[in-house]
Amino acid sequence: NSITFIQPSGTPATVSVEPGTSLMRAAVTNGVDGIVGECGGQAMCATCHVYVRPEFAAALPEPSDDEEEMLDCTTAERTELSRLGCQIKACAELDGIVVDVPAEQV
Ligand code: FES
Repeated sequence: NSITFIQPSGTPATVSVEPGTSLMRAAVTNGVDGIVGECGGQAMCATCHVYVRPEFAAALPEPSDDEEEMLDCTTAERTELSRLGCQIKACAELDGIVVDVPAEQV
């Protein structure tokens, strides 16, 4: 499954990962800037904050209560497109997903 991360500068990076890999893990293992993943994917740090492009919103699972709570703690402003990258897993429905990386994570 492919995932495209767009940096605040507009530079895109497309990575390819196995289904089930989180967006956070995909970014960290491929050296994509701007995704930290400090808590290792436990929905406890909000340093994997991404803005999911609206065309993919319908295919996303609803955020869990833990994710909801952490989304209020993001460094960059939370918007209706905000999600935690560690809580979104690559899958066929989300193949080709495009997300914007916030300017700040910590
Ligand atoms: Fe910590 Fe996602 S990696 S909240």
